[in-house]
Amino acid sequence: MSKNLLREDHLFKQVYDYVLTHIERHEWKEHEKLPSVRKLAEEMNVHRLTVLKAYQLLKKHKKVYVKDKSGYFVQPDLAGEHIENEDHPIINAYAQKNHLSEIHQASVSYDFSHALIDPNLLPNQYLSHYVKKVFDLYPKVLATYSTVQGDVELRETLASYFISQYKSQVHADDLLLTSGSQQAIHMIAQAFIKPRDTVLFERPSYSSAIDVFKNQGAKIKTVDIHPDGYDLLQIEDLMKTYKPRLFYLNPTFHNPTGYTVPAHQRKRLVELAEQYRCLLIEDDAYHDIYFDQTPPPPIYTYDASGTVIYIRSFCKYISPGLRIGAVLCQSALMKTLITVKSLVDNGSPLLNQKIFLHYFSSLRLQEHLKKIRIALQIRKEIMEKELAAANWNWVSPKGGLNLWVKLPEDISTEKLLMKSLDHSISFVPGQVCDPLKESSSMIRLSYSYANEKQLSIGLEKFIHLAKSM
Ligand SMILES: Cc1ncc(COP(=O)(O)O)c(C=O)c1O
Repeated sequence: MSKNLLREDHLFKQVYDYVLTHIERHEWKEHEKLPSVRKLAEEMNVHRLTVLKAYQLLKKHKKVYVKDKSGYFVQPDLAGEHIENEDHPIINAYAQKNHLSEIHQASVSYDFSHALIDPNLLPNQYLSHYVKKVFDLYPKVLATYSTVQGDVELRETLASYFISQYKSQVHADDLLLTSGSQQAIHMIAQAFIKPRDTVLFERPSYSSAIDVFKNQGAKIKTVDIHPDGYDLLQIEDLMKTYKPRLFYLNPTFHNPTGYTVPAHQRKRLVELAEQYRCLLIEDDAYHDIYFDQTPPPPIYTYDASGTVIYIRSFCKYISPGLRIGAVLCQSALMKTLITVKSLVDNGSPLLNQKIFLHYFSSLRLQEHLKKIRIALQIRKEIMEKELAAANWNWVSPKGGLNLWVKLPEDISTEKLLMKSLDHSISFVPGQVCDPLKESSSMIRLSYSYANEKQLSIGLEKFIHLAKSM
């Protein structure tokens, strides 16, 4: 491509993103007239044709509509997403979205939408007995703040754990304890992203992370993830062209696909990130949830220059209620994140950290993990048996909590969701996991929350519903 064409393409994208950001943030409201082509071209110092081209593409993407001779107007949200805020300009202007939590709000009998482990499989009794002991060991635990960075005893324990697992040099000061990994993602977006910064995302990706970065005003570019990892040339090209601030990735038993990025790609990815000065945000929420083989070491273990911010969650398989997550990164980044954490909540609850500490250090954890891996594999196989009978396609994951399933093209997954919710069944349509929000025939089915009976009965019903559409 010639230099001029490249520049024009870049300007066109700038105009497109500028208008889209205003619409998505509701700074320009439904049916509001967009600036005229001439005015916006002047304002952004681009050619009028560039603006016209951007408006035309926005029209094609149903973000704006055109009225003869009057110009372009903001298209109302056809999904009715913001109707309840219509009369509240302030709420409307700053409305944030979390597509996943909207699906989760429905209480259903056959829950295939929560990527959570059935509470009956978690160590409830053991933890509740121990809670009483925590008060004997730490009588003032409720009368004390945790430090902002998190309880030092727990950070030291986690540092030893990382050293023993991956032979990497980790010190307690390199760790920040958060209320789950969701908070870590949110804090990273707040700390390092300003509106209109470019961030890379896997496509598909974890929906609530997409929403966090979009709510922060980031422009998202996508990297396809495949069963055997990424196309590193595509990543290099994106890094070179868009100079993204960061790449948010979930490379181990990826949500929603279950894919794992192989070790040789991890190493190269760190080299690319260093070369193009792009932070890698490695979200490792599912590392311990494997069936047979341990996954490759985390990407941070290949990083010698502080390019990776590593997020590890312990919520899924120990206690979602305790909300324990950890961030591992180099000291300059850590300093910023500690400041953000102090502004968010001044430190996670100390009681939770102390309860977790005890469990994490106990032999019980290893026994629990062994049991849970077997239970989850059985559930996955039940789900796969039902789906095989329907002749649908998926790549069987080696860990994690979800199947990423391709339905026949003629089924609308959004319509199927409505119909399924009417029959007390939930799942996540692929569109929710797509940073570009295009419709697709993919769906995410979680096998970890429903019990074995609910899985067989619910999936039979679900397949029957899909086939009758
Ligand atoms: C990839 C990924 N990251 C982060 C989270 C948030 O987990 P938590 O905040 O419970 O640690 C989830 C939850 O589904 C997830 O799938």
